[in-house]
Amino acid sequence: MNKFGFVVHPIDAFTFKACTKPWFLLEKILPKEMFENILTKLPPKRFRIFKKVRSMSGKSIDGDMLTISLLPSQIYSFPEETVLRLIGECIKYCERSGAKIVGLGGFTSVIGNEGEALSRRVKVPLTSGNTLTAALALQGIYKAAYAMELSLPSAVVAVIGATGDIGSICTKILSKRVKKVNIAARNEEKLQEFASRIRQEGSAEVRVFKYSKDAVREADIVLTVTSAITTVVDPVSLKPGSIVCDVAMPANIAREVVQARDDILVFEGGLAKIPYPEDCKIEKLSTAFPPNGIYGCLAETMTLAFEERFESFSLGRGNITESKITEIESMAKKHGIALADFFCGYKTYTKQDIENIRKNAKKNKEVAYAAQK
Ligand SMILES: NC(=O)c1ccc[n+]([C@@H]2O[C@H](COP(=O)([O-])OP(=O)(O)OC[C@H]3O[C@@H](n4cnc5c(N)ncnc54)[C@H](OP(=O)(O)O)[C@@H]3O)[C@@H](O)[C@H]2O)c1
Repeated sequence: MNKFGFVVHPIDAFTFKACTKPWFLLEKILPKEMFENILTKLPPKRFRIFKKVRSMSGKSIDGDMLTISLLPSQIYSFPEETVLRLIGECIKYCERSGAKIVGLGGFTSVIGNEGEALSRRVKVPLTSGNTLTAALALQGIYKAAYAMELSLPSAVVAVIGATGDIGSICTKILSKRVKKVNIAARNEEKLQEFASRIRQEGSAEVRVFKYSKDAVREADIVLTVTSAITTVVDPVSLKPGSIVCDVAMPANIAREVVQARDDILVFEGGLAKIPYPEDCKIEKLSTAFPPNGIYGCLAETMTLAFEERFESFSLGRGNITESKITEIESMAKKHGIALADFFCGYKTYTKQDIENIRKNAKKNKEVAYAAQK
């Protein structure tokens, strides 16, 4: 049976405990430096064994999920070479146990130029999974616009993290379908250069913003796809009736926003639904995923394994094309891998929830309009 590997990292205190058990117990008693030093010495940890994951086409695959023990903040603060070594050890473990392709989840691809640096150290093909993640983020936006009765050709979209691997291809595609695109990231020079390219290719007006709060203010749709380790969007800046697709891990928009704002549709983008969810259930993390869902980067790795496409499909930053998006979408579809239901950290939206958001947005828009008069 063909086998895949997948490398992850903890994203918050809850997953950190699950990934570093029993070592996390030392955190309270050891000085920070000593504890962090231990984290860099821990061997790769096999977090989950996948046995006979079934596709709708009748094929099955096996897989191993490996984890490093570093949180996103540590992935950034530790020397890059140390982090690459730890991820490399996980990949080599997968290689030894027969994986023919290895996917890099979350920040394990953000570091080292989306798998490019690591691909020079191992033989097995690597994929960041960003092509299917971008495809699912876009599908989610289109579905949400339909549900919220929002016309895409007259919509204003804000992309936070627009110069990144996922953000840039999504911006490129959206700029051909919407009225205006506001883009934000920290490096303004890169942003300006990217904006000039997008203006030539798309039909939308493109505006560059230094601060995310300014970029989202007039937006009907917000796509957050940064590699920031904290939230970057303040819920008070968002327009009533807006849609927020948050692809980032850790989230760029706090989960509490869902409680604070009952007039916007906030969902985790880039999630996939699989035909046999019981095959991929991760009991330790069940509350972090939608009921039938997995992350897009894992879904891409599994799709490539089902297809026996043992190649570095998504590797290096800025290489995702529209044709690759179409290709991975059709491959995923063959195996019953599709867009997940709208999910926001702890609940899946029902039709009634979306209807309520629409009603609340209408009411709040009227109040805001009356206050302006
Ligand atoms: N849901 C899923 O299945 C899935 C799959 C893969 C990846 N992801 C997540 O998606 C996110 C993006 O991944 P990627 O590979 O596209 O990353 P990337 O290529 O490194 O891009 C990150 C983007 O965010 C910007 N950025 C970073 N910090 C920022 C801040 N504080 N404020 C505003 N912009 C900021 C960067 O530009 P500057 O450096 O100029 O600011 C860049 O435009 C990550 O959180 C990753 O974990 C999710």
